[in-house]
Amino acid sequence: MSDRYLNLVNSAPGKAVASKLGLPRPAVLRRYQVGAPVLPGPALVHGAGLAGVVKDLEVDVRESDDGNTRWAALLYDATDAAAIDDLATLRDFFAGALRRLGPSGRVVVLGRSPAGTDPVVDATRQALDGIVRSLAKELRAGATANLVLVEGDASPESTLRFLLSGRSAYVDGQVIRVGPGAAPPDPARPLEGKIALVTGAARGIGAAIADVLARDGAHVVVADLPAAGEGLAQVANRIGGTTLQLDIAQPGAPATLLGHLGERHGGVDIVVHNAGITRDKLLANMKPEHWDSVLAVNLDAQLRINTALLGSTVLHDGARVVCLASTSGIAGNRGQTNYAASKAGIIGMVRSYAPAFAKREGTINAIAPGFIDTEMTHAMPMATREVARRINSLQQAGLPIDVAETAAWLVSPSAGGVNAQVIRVCGQSMVGA
Ligand code: NAI
Repeated sequence: MSDRYLNLVNSAPGKAVASKLGLPRPAVLRRYQVGAPVLPGPALVHGAGLAGVVKDLEVDVRESDDGNTRWAALLYDATDAAAIDDLATLRDFFAGALRRLGPSGRVVVLGRSPAGTDPVVDATRQALDGIVRSLAKELRAGATANLVLVEGDASPESTLRFLLSGRSAYVDGQVIRVGPGAAPPDPARPLEGKIALVTGAARGIGAAIADVLARDGAHVVVADLPAAGEGLAQVANRIGGTTLQLDIAQPGAPATLLGHLGERHGGVDIVVHNAGITRDKLLANMKPEHWDSVLAVNLDAQLRINTALLGSTVLHDGARVVCLASTSGIAGNRGQTNYAASKAGIIGMVRSYAPAFAKREGTINAIAPGFIDTEMTHAMPMATREVARRINSLQQAGLPIDVAETAAWLVSPSAGGVNAQVIRVCGQSMVGA
């Protein structure tokens, strides 16, 4: 499932041909390696408060541009922006330094949500959205731009650490809201001592999530269909986890799951609802069984398991839940009314459950992947697959590790201020918002 085109245009002869013909030249993205610094070089930061937060991430922070430095990141604090003229100051800051943003560079703007009180302030705040999304489309060489909306005096530290690092390689053009509830900064193994459940973990994205949660210190219970038992055992052996063979769509699945987690592990701290299926057909040709099975596995199973967890002490206080949605659930996709219904439903579900999880000091968030190279997407016809890979700002497919790193960040203690969000891991796909 390797991306031959990406490999070709990153070879010396391929680079020359692609540049001559004006073909897209996707970059090899900077991805997180254990022990790597948050950024590989200096960051230019506008705003003293923001500079202080970024210094705490052990980043080499500069507060003025000497006109020569190659920047690993450009960060701008626009939380005080209240008038149209404030946007020109932001433009000046970026226009001067953007040409010297290095490969897989990072642009992050801090802002505030419009509050509905003053039209000029709200227009200015909302303008940041348009600036960041457009800038993300202009950046090249694997660089990304994201907007972080900070509520009150909530700390953006955890979100900044994620966005600046290689963990966020395929997160681009996103708006992330941060509220109160952040725990202190994460140690090297933030999930040490935590019990995590990952469904659909025998392969693909689920297996990658299990790998990363175990890397970060969790004991991971990997669940999948009995038919996927072999792959499941391989994942569990690799990460020192335990297996649970379970069809999550069966009526008794929530009780089996809670019984297993309570009796064998004393409860659960992290749940990643990853299992999912597709049964693509145009609605005119959609058989009831195609409709029912997709809704049952992708949505109804998660609803029933979450409700059971919330009503029990098996779910520890401070728990973190991540649910896999999809950009199809945001933008829609031809032939996927059933799948898009289930994935849009996940977004509605997450927003609705969030206050109940917050009451128990927990969070529930959704990840909406775009095109990720897995066996699920490998089943697509070649031409469709090649197009789908390129129609995003990073001009390439994401990898399972990109979704896994985002899940690992959302379930970490320090991400407690991020609740009820939908984070797209899609390279800023041209499909949808
Ligand atoms: P995959 O098909 O490679 O893996 C899904 C896993 O879920 C399989 O191991 C399967 O056995 C398991 N599973 C299916 N039904 C189950 C059930 N009833 N009970 C327990 N386990 C069950 O899929 P992939 O690509 O790794 O996707 C993972 C998640 O990410 C899914 O929810 C999918 O909808 C979502 N997603 C994937 C995208 C992609 O580009 N690959 C894009 C957007 C969302």
